[in-house]
Amino acid sequence: MRKLRFKNGHAMPALGLGTWKSEQGEVYSAVKTAIELGYRHIDCAPIYGNEQEIGVAIAECIHENIITREDLWITSKLWNDSHARTDVIPALQKTLEDLQLDYLDLYLIHWPVAIKKGIDFPTTANDFVSLNEIPTTETWEGMEEAAKLGLAKHIGVSNFGIKALQNLLAHCTIRPEMNQVECHPYFQQGALLSFCKANDIHFTAYSPLGSGDRPDAFKASDEPALLEDPVLIKLAEKHNCSVAQIIISWNLHRSTSVIPKSVNAGRIQENLESEDISLSSEELQSIANIDKDYRLVNGKFWVVEGGPYTLEGLWS
Ligand code: A2P
Repeated sequence: MRKLRFKNGHAMPALGLGTWKSEQGEVYSAVKTAIELGYRHIDCAPIYGNEQEIGVAIAECIHENIITREDLWITSKLWNDSHARTDVIPALQKTLEDLQLDYLDLYLIHWPVAIKKGIDFPTTANDFVSLNEIPTTETWEGMEEAAKLGLAKHIGVSNFGIKALQNLLAHCTIRPEMNQVECHPYFQQGALLSFCKANDIHFTAYSPLGSGDRPDAFKASDEPALLEDPVLIKLAEKHNCSVAQIIISWNLHRSTSVIPKSVNAGRIQENLESEDISLSSEELQSIANIDKDYRLVNGKFWVVEGGPYTLEGLWS
């Protein structure tokens, strides 16, 4: 199993199970199946609304001696309504309670966007808190405390662009060790990936398969169909595998982590088997050539009339 090495010697399995959009009632068996099949990295977040059920699956796997806690790499994220310095640890403690864990392997600021306490998803400008009121550097102090208390072995961010990372790097005491962002062959994130590598920040690709199960409200009508790309289909035929496996393998070849979501046992297994695919440099170049710089999770839901966030500011 490919791993990403951290400075302190810890190793994160590069391929993890995504759980965004995994519904209650199905995520328990998805996580249990994944662990039984050999997954050792589960990516979570409280806003996905399923951490309690994931916690039951993890606890059972440990209780049944399928794995130990130390075998697992569990990531979760701080939701936008808990960005105030003093809200970070309580939010983390709630996640730990739901996941039935004493610590996380990795805790991330989910978005560089703050919203009012208790609001899951903002609908009006009044629901937001600007970054002038709560800068991400203040939130980061809470994340550093989480690391110092041993509640999170590693800390990082998600959905941060280069400018947001530079700002954090300039002010932090403990450096962020991960940036988790959308990444797939139609949105390859070349500049951001290079920046992260140059600054010793690991990179996790979310929505690697294009997140076709996103709510319609988060979709554009003219989105390109990643899984139907002719270059990827040809590669899949050549390797006698699926397009999804080619995409996952491509991510692994770029030395990033990748977290395909599935609640289907067959596809959970299929995705794991992507580890066995070897792509040549010519094949990797042919995938490099199909980049469309097309962001699927475009963040428009953070931009409301009169609100403090703009798309340019968000992704810069
Ligand atoms: P399912 O959960 O029914 O398997 P992403 O990881 O980019 O968010 O994509 C998740 C979507 O891709 C879900 O709809 C998931 O469906 C589907 N999916 C997961 N694995 C595969 C696969 N190997 N082939 C095709 N679709 C997949």
